[in-house]
Amino acid sequence: MVVQASTPGNMSYNGLAQTPPMGWNNWNAFGCYVNNRLLETTSNLLVKYGLRDAGYQYVVVDDCWSSHRDDDSQTLVADSVRFPQGMKSIADYIHHNSMKFGIYSSAGLYTCAGYPGSLGYESIDAHTFAEWGVDFLKYDNCYNNGQSGNPSISHRRYNIMSQALRSTNRPIVYSLCNWGEDNAWSWAPTISNSWRMSGDISDNYDRADARCPCAPDNLRCPLTGFHCSMAHILTKASYLTAKAQPGAWLDLDMLEVGNGGMTQNEYKTHFSMWAAMKSPLMIGTDLENLHADDLAIYLNPAVIAVNQDPLGESINLVWRNRVIDGQTVHVSLWSGRLFNGDQIVAVVNQDRVERHVTISLADIFSDEPRKARTMNWAVHDLWGPSRLNASSLHEIMSSDSLNGSRFPESYYNATAKSYSEGVIEKDRRLIGDKIFEFGPAGQRSVSIPAHGIGFYRLRSIETFLV
Ligand code: GLA
Repeated sequence: MVVQASTPGNMSYNGLAQTPPMGWNNWNAFGCYVNNRLLETTSNLLVKYGLRDAGYQYVVVDDCWSSHRDDDSQTLVADSVRFPQGMKSIADYIHHNSMKFGIYSSAGLYTCAGYPGSLGYESIDAHTFAEWGVDFLKYDNCYNNGQSGNPSISHRRYNIMSQALRSTNRPIVYSLCNWGEDNAWSWAPTISNSWRMSGDISDNYDRADARCPCAPDNLRCPLTGFHCSMAHILTKASYLTAKAQPGAWLDLDMLEVGNGGMTQNEYKTHFSMWAAMKSPLMIGTDLENLHADDLAIYLNPAVIAVNQDPLGESINLVWRNRVIDGQTVHVSLWSGRLFNGDQIVAVVNQDRVERHVTISLADIFSDEPRKARTMNWAVHDLWGPSRLNASSLHEIMSSDSLNGSRFPESYYNATAKSYSEGVIEKDRRLIGDKIFEFGPAGQRSVSIPAHGIGFYRLRSIETFLV
């Protein structure tokens, strides 16, 4: 039986982003080193590597693309060295590849890197973006002239651009980036399609950095900063999962997979948890120098299917840090519902050694105890042996052709059949490898590698009515 998505919080303010946006953004890997060649090459590689057809649609240019405002029209002017043909031309190029184009500005006098901001120019800029063919706007928070400090001021400032974008009548996804300041969760969901909840990510698992000064449980952090580790953001986001909604997603920041600062197990944790929390999935690495191992992570269809699940509910933290034999074990258990009655479960090991942990149906279904007591569940590993692997991707990566390479069988083309349709048809690439079964009230020990994740889809086998 297929359970229809029932989403009382389904409130996308402009009807867009019914599932989390997926794409690529240059910032994590390139910072200000951005130009038309980079965007064009990346767009071509997104096609060649099968990423576009896996769902990564948006090519987003971050900060540093503009130079000044035109004296007469006051419109933003593209940097003539980085983008000699202007932004419309790059939008056309990306559209020609059947992808979408995203741009960046700030709700401030300047962008974070010091280029002209949109504060006071919202209507002009929204219309300029629409004329250029922009499909997505990331809207930052630097140099806001003191217009922050309480939810009402921040809401007012971000709402001006929200309305301006709507008034263009062009569908433009609005990606609000105020780092979670001023309780963004209480006002951003009604005026944007996603909202950042932390300071900027950095490419490391759990390194503390004074530039990301607040503890992750400080939801009133006055200085969100940057250089926040993946684990810091994950912990902070665990308090906000109830606020994520279809069309107004919790944005955990862009992905670091491929940038070299984490191990493969750490990147699998990063990618899986961003997917399960329904964060936008924005590839943040250099595709020209991508390793096949990292491409295999970005393309894992079973994980992407969780992110794009039509129910649009985030996974939730069930417990973290248990004392086992007198020792605190830094493991956490997460669980969440999926649209067809399956359950997504994550076991995250933040220790530097392998851990054996007991997981139970009672914990997994703590919100719905009947499912734990009365049902049998098959546990499918979403990083199991039959998943897409690096060696099967070498051929497409080394091929000269941009299009038409033969993808391995384990690759999933979501433009041919959506993830939810594939799940309904029990496509093994999406539901993973069955590893064991849980009887009613069952429990089981699982081994999770250092800094690794167990990422499972539970499927009911049959129901015992009691
Ligand atoms: C802020 C944002 C980042 C990035 C930079 C660009 O720090 O949070 O994601 O856009 O600005 O300067």
